[in-house]
Amino acid sequence: MAEKFKITGGETLRGEVSIGGAKNAVLKHLAATILVKGKTKIYNVPHLTDVDIMLNVLSDLGAKYIYNKEEKSVEVDASNITSITAKYELVSKMRASFIILGALMSRCKEAIVALPGGCAIGERRVDFHIKGLEALGAKIKIENGYVHAKASKLVGTDIYLDIPSVGATENLMLAAVLAEGSTRIQNAAQEPEIIDLANFLNTIGADIIGAGTSEIIINGVKAENLHSAEYTTIPDRIEAGTFMAAVVATKGKAIIRNVFPAHLTFFNDKLIKMGANIKLIEPTTIEVSCRGRLNSINFVTQPYPGFPTDLQAIAMTLLTTANGVGIITESLYENRFMQVPDLRRMGADIHQDRNHAIIKGVKNLTGATVAASDLRAGAALVIAGLMANGETIVEKLHHIDRGYEEFEYKLQKLGGKIYRYNDETETQIKGVFNESRL
Ligand code: EPU
Repeated sequence: MAEKFKITGGETLRGEVSIGGAKNAVLKHLAATILVKGKTKIYNVPHLTDVDIMLNVLSDLGAKYIYNKEEKSVEVDASNITSITAKYELVSKMRASFIILGALMSRCKEAIVALPGGCAIGERRVDFHIKGLEALGAKIKIENGYVHAKASKLVGTDIYLDIPSVGATENLMLAAVLAEGSTRIQNAAQEPEIIDLANFLNTIGADIIGAGTSEIIINGVKAENLHSAEYTTIPDRIEAGTFMAAVVATKGKAIIRNVFPAHLTFFNDKLIKMGANIKLIEPTTIEVSCRGRLNSINFVTQPYPGFPTDLQAIAMTLLTTANGVGIITESLYENRFMQVPDLRRMGADIHQDRNHAIIKGVKNLTGATVAASDLRAGAALVIAGLMANGETIVEKLHHIDRGYEEFEYKLQKLGGKIYRYNDETETQIKGVFNESRL
């Protein structure tokens, strides 16, 4: 069944929206639950297909879980781990499942995890993950598309990452939790999701300091020091940025709840330079508004705290109708301008040269049929549809469902004319919309 969004552009978004738990944090917490020989409960878990995939990975390993979608919680019981293999069928669907490698190495000292391939946005290698595990003492073979890692014991050491990779930092943190002695990760990623993983691990009994800086120290603890715990995941900064952009794009005004503004400093600054107003109402509530045409800006995507690559496509959509010319340099991925051909089909004037895009603001976009090529490009096209004159059809929604919970319902609640329909029967899909959950 092919599901699509039908969007009628031109509505101003107004009202309130609440942001869910951070996808890129919760996936790692779920992987980390297998370190505990017992139950761990995580709150603020968004309902996303990526979460379902990670739960399937855990279940294949022998862990049991209860996913309470109303409460937005998952309880994992990892008392018995019966397998050390993460299958290609799951890892190929979601690269983030590769994070199970570090968790399995901690718990079982052996892991067989499918190597993720390249993906739509770039090559996305895992060489730093592998080199780091080898430095901790693992012997690694790559056979038949799988990484087979084994160690009689892991011993803490100094690991320098050539670039501050989020996934490598997380995999190595996980692997080092039960290592002998201390591990120091230098040039570590500093994303809020790294801090959240360290906080989660410390809550279950690990000893990690420095997360959020470029040097993280993991003092190894004994397996018996790890214990059951409950933990609440941070809000999703990329979902928050997406809704902020959607409000700004439609010249609207909305209250955004359950957001940590400090996680979006760079993005907020750029939105303000474009002409948006952002007011702090409460520590985790902001009001975003915008009147008149936006100004163009230039930006370069960077590891945190720089401009997030995951908001690049979304910001590009804002630039398509801004006053003047904006230049974007994508420095993290080789191929993250997949949205450009579809934005052009909607009337945008974009010149792309390798990892640079030059966007000359046009007066308005016009609706067209477009397709999500990855999660964030998909969100960018939805926002373009909300801005455009006329009707936009967005195809390949499975990409969007990986990372945005109840996306269309949240937008509808703000006044957006967007609905999901079944292409074959032309009927609207109502889904599990429940006002009280938004
Ligand atoms: N890289 C290597 N070798 C490695 C690891 C990374 O060359 O061993 C390169 C990658 O090819 C990429 C760059 O380093 O060009 C950054 O990759 P990183 O490892 O930091 O990213 P990731 O852990 O694979 C996470 C998020 C991405 C987000 C990036 C950067 C998750 C599940 N994914 O990916 O999120 O773009 O960090 O912030 O946490 C998304 O949510 O849409 C998404 C793609």
